[in-house]
Amino acid sequence: MSAITDSTAKPTSSTKNTSKRQRQEQISNSTNSTSSSSSTNPIERPRKRFFRQRAHCNPLSRSDGFDYPQTPEDVSFWEPHFNPEWLSKFSNPETEVYADVGCGFGGLLIGLAELYPAAVSIGFEIRDKVTKYVKQRILHLREEEAGGYQNVSVLRANAMRYLPNFFKKGQLSKMFFCFPDPQFKKKNHRRRIISDGLLAEYAYLIRPGGRLYHITDVPELHEWMKDHVTRHSCFKIIPEEELSKDPAVECMRESTEEGKKVARGGGSKYYCVYERISDEIALSKHHFNNKEDVFERQEEYTNNGKIVVQKKE
Ligand SMILES: C[S@@+](CC[C@H](N)C(=O)[O-])C[C@H]1O[C@@H](n2cnc3c(N)ncnc32)[C@H](O)[C@@H]1O
Repeated sequence: MSAITDSTAKPTSSTKNTSKRQRQEQISNSTNSTSSSSSTNPIERPRKRFFRQRAHCNPLSRSDGFDYPQTPEDVSFWEPHFNPEWLSKFSNPETEVYADVGCGFGGLLIGLAELYPAAVSIGFEIRDKVTKYVKQRILHLREEEAGGYQNVSVLRANAMRYLPNFFKKGQLSKMFFCFPDPQFKKKNHRRRIISDGLLAEYAYLIRPGGRLYHITDVPELHEWMKDHVTRHSCFKIIPEEELSKDPAVECMRESTEEGKKVARGGGSKYYCVYERISDEIALSKHHFNNKEDVFERQEEYTNNGKIVVQKKE
């Protein structure tokens, strides 16, 4: 797990004459520390070309070697990520906490931090270099805007494992799954980030009234995710006409790096948003998503939205 710290990330005076690339590496290889140091050298905006890493990572691996908090009550785990003020806000049950699962280069994460300055946004990313990129991006922004971006951080972690170690029941208000790896081969479907088993965890972590968002450019994966979430008794799909009231939807559609790539290539984006319904209603089994209703709503969305999808006759 790689954590956010303001201190060792800054290069020392002995690094003044090193190349830009070396300095980027020094920053990105920085380790955790809570002590502060004063340096006149600014933290540069990271460049993706120094942080590229092949996409393949095995999310089912049990020997990932990441650090996980023993329990969600372990506040010390979060100390390298937030200053005391935000650490206390993070622990306050009234603070909204958002999780971007598989945050990639952090576009949505930064967008959420700006859109919701009172909430805490946390990105989970399995790839080491990519996590370091996001970390440096946040540190750079924190330095550029004194007092800003204290409400956002990134963790190197496998979100398919131990997520309930990070958060208490109902601690999350929003969970985002943006352009997840499609895992096309049938034998790899069990690696998909939305599955029946994982949805039970997500339902545990999202508070009633909270929201789950997913977006992809792969129609088959979209159907898979929609099918799995709508089948789950704890989630209710939100109709398209209500989504315009949710600014997180536009943020999700427009701010992720993958989403921008899709837009540049003229591709389509498919998304759905769900509300976590109360345990009482979910357990009473009076609530079910009507499949036809869901389908119609989805069609309505595709017709209303700017995303071009073949309309079924
Ligand atoms: C296709 S990228 C999308 C990145 C970002 N959400 C976006 O839209 O730009 C999927 C990301 O999920 C990360 N990822 C895949 N499985 C993961 C897991 N189990 N835990 C955390 N991150 C994961 C990958 O490393 C990759 O960066």
